[in-house]
Amino acid sequence: MSINVLPGGLPLLGHAMDLLRRPLSFVEQLRDTGGVVRFNLGPRPSYLISTPDLVKEVLISKSHCFDKGGPLFKQSKPLLGNGLVGCDREQARRSRPLMNPAFHHSRMARYTEVMSQVSREIADGWTDGSTVDFDDQMNIATMDALTRCLFAGVSDTETAAEVRTVMQVIVNGVGRRAFIPISFVHKLPLPPKLREDAAMRKLHTVVDGVIASYRQGGVDHGDLMSMMIMAQDDAGNGMTDTQLHDEVRSIMVAGTETSATMMLWMAYALHQHPDIRARMQEELDLVLAGRRIDYEDIPKLEYTSRVVQEALRRYPVAWLLTRYATVDVEIDGVTIPAGSDVMFSPYAEHMDPRNFDDPFAFDPDRWLPSRARAMHRQAFLPFGAGVRKCVGESFAFTEMMIMVATFFGSWTITPVHEDPEPTASTTYRPRHTHFTLRRR
Ligand code: HEM
Repeated sequence: MSINVLPGGLPLLGHAMDLLRRPLSFVEQLRDTGGVVRFNLGPRPSYLISTPDLVKEVLISKSHCFDKGGPLFKQSKPLLGNGLVGCDREQARRSRPLMNPAFHHSRMARYTEVMSQVSREIADGWTDGSTVDFDDQMNIATMDALTRCLFAGVSDTETAAEVRTVMQVIVNGVGRRAFIPISFVHKLPLPPKLREDAAMRKLHTVVDGVIASYRQGGVDHGDLMSMMIMAQDDAGNGMTDTQLHDEVRSIMVAGTETSATMMLWMAYALHQHPDIRARMQEELDLVLAGRRIDYEDIPKLEYTSRVVQEALRRYPVAWLLTRYATVDVEIDGVTIPAGSDVMFSPYAEHMDPRNFDDPFAFDPDRWLPSRARAMHRQAFLPFGAGVRKCVGESFAFTEMMIMVATFFGSWTITPVHEDPEPTASTTYRPRHTHFTLRRR
């Protein structure tokens, strides 16, 4: 089969400027050009894979021909180490089974308590009529929730707050590396690098202390860290201290800004659809009657969960995912040479009218079982798919339910700018993040 090659592109840069300047329309253009399309990012040939069946080949049936890689992962290695987010297939094969139990649904009830408590504390700090940077608020909320779900056994709040502060520096560092993909810049002893080094040292000291006391105590604190420490593979081996360090950083990087950004999109979606907001608030009033949300409430909030599900479809924050081919591999009759970058875009799939009717509409009822049955499973990819699917999917969904119920159940949250001005770099996010808060 002849290959689809995207025409145009600049000498040396290829289509890199298109991806930088108009990322969303660029991936839609690639998608509409064919199932497998070659384009150039700098001197490197890259491929965008579209259609649910072909994406399924890359992520599931031919996943052994692909691995994580590419510039973002390489730049971030000093910060992420060998944690799951950026590690290769071999490492993931060993560490993923050791990470899964910490995120098992049987642990969620405990995590829910923490998430609910954290959300309530944040909302209690809000003043009626004030305008806030909602992005900051949501980042504090998700960072706090995850820190406290990781280290429930760390009773002093000072240490927990310290972890949150240093993690913010590390998360920002990963983002910065994605924006400036020139490796020597990140090695220069400039203020950001010095801050990162200090943050890494501080985190090491704290996490070392936690590991030592947890290992000695041998108690299950009901948190992520206890499970990560207790997990063993079939041969009875657990994670080394270095691996635990790397996984802590990895889940903090993967599991805070993503969830926080989803809450920003949620605030825009509910503002733009007052009918949906009213129907959701009615359900929340009925089920919760003003009390704090618990784990048992979640299955009762059917409409709210469809709203969350639709937000994940309409606003896939992980909008572009990358792999590289480890061997020559054929997809849709096209041979992709070993070493090529291979990408697929949850955004392009979610916004494809062949996959979802009226894809730009925010329609929670498309998730009613009678309507959802007709959808292709691989067309819905907010958490990826296959062996490297998001390990925190249930954690994230539960957290969104808790935060939506707490924040939007009691407050009307109105954007200062009507137009969010979507942008897409490491994540797909609104440019404008200021909102006015009014108690309902
Ligand atoms: C709404 C929030 C979230 C979204 C949209 C999201 C999305 C994703 C996606 C798309 C992937 C797959 C990336 C790929 O295939 O290249 C992924 C992987 C991952 N996510 Fe999430 N995520 C979210 C929240 C979380 C949370 C809360 C955690 C942990 C507490 C987490 C931890 C991870 C980890 C460790 C991986 C790597 C898994 C592996 O490679 O085996 N994520 N996430």
